[in-house]
Amino acid sequence: MAAQSRRFKDCGAVVTGGATGIGGAIAERLAADGASVLIADINSEGAAERAARIQDAGGVAAACTTNVGELDQVQAMIQAAVDRWGRLDIIVNNAYPAQEAMTGGAEEVPPDVYDRAMAVLVKASYLSAKFGVPHLRQAGGGSIVNISSIHGLLVAPGALVYETGKAALIAATRQMAVEYGRDGIRVNAIAPGHIVTEGIQANLWDRNPSGLQFFESQYPVGRCGRPEDIAAAVAFLCSEDASFITGHTLVVDGGHSLQIQENFGVAQARFMRDHPDTQLPY
Ligand SMILES: NC(=O)c1ccc[n+]([C@@H]2O[C@H](COP(=O)([O-])OP(=O)(O)OC[C@H]3O[C@@H](n4cnc5c(N)ncnc54)[C@H](O)[C@@H]3O)[C@@H](O)[C@H]2O)c1
Repeated sequence: MAAQSRRFKDCGAVVTGGATGIGGAIAERLAADGASVLIADINSEGAAERAARIQDAGGVAAACTTNVGELDQVQAMIQAAVDRWGRLDIIVNNAYPAQEAMTGGAEEVPPDVYDRAMAVLVKASYLSAKFGVPHLRQAGGGSIVNISSIHGLLVAPGALVYETGKAALIAATRQMAVEYGRDGIRVNAIAPGHIVTEGIQANLWDRNPSGLQFFESQYPVGRCGRPEDIAAAVAFLCSEDASFITGHTLVVDGGHSLQIQENFGVAQARFMRDHPDTQLPY
């Protein structure tokens, strides 16, 4: 764990989907900054491993098996955090149903898949606020951070559920910010660009380095994101340095989404002309 300030000392936090990927890095960062972190994930083993890793590094963390798509489980998750840490100051809604979020347009997506995915992508943030806000208020205020995506601001064909869900999360962020501001509760979202998690690296890029190179070429900063980039943004938004920021969606994408005009398409075409052996990821 990198040495950080202890700015979240005595704070209790919950990070959903904290077993792996971006959520794992968020949990580690908040713990490094002094928070006690409950890692809530449907992946029990991964959550326990992440908690152990944080403890080994000197942090305070525990795992909680949770399906954030289920009301009673979100309620139990919030209660578990309060029981363990004695207070709740930070909620990060990050869990992501990878299997169900990218399944086509309206004609292709089965209604049950739509409902299950939306429960995780959108409804979970409502449930965590429903049960969590009274505890944040009791703690004298706090922070909710919703992990959206640049897909919540832009669109991609064939991904109705993900695009709709991530946009709805931004709307919910703005709405809750207005509702809870006077309680000292700030609600913000983050819109990451492409973040190379351990899962994406293993499942996509290890066997297709040229595809990663193509992705990296699309980023003005010359690289894709790392989970730690998003974790740093979460820590900032939860900190006193961001005390006048609420209802905001912070784009953390290395400048990627700034480029949407014809020149971008030309640059992509030029890359393919110059690298004809590039394998596209999908
Ligand atoms: N990786 C990217 O490029 C990227 C880009 C933009 C936004 N995001 C967002 O960041 C967040 C994390 O993405 P990631 O790439 O780290 O994903 P990931 O698949 O690596 O991790 C997601 C975690 O959520 C957990 N999860 C899935 N369903 C759950 C449920 N019902 N209840 C509780 N936990 C559940 C998984 O077990 C896993 O640990 C997501 O909200 C995603 O939409 C990711």
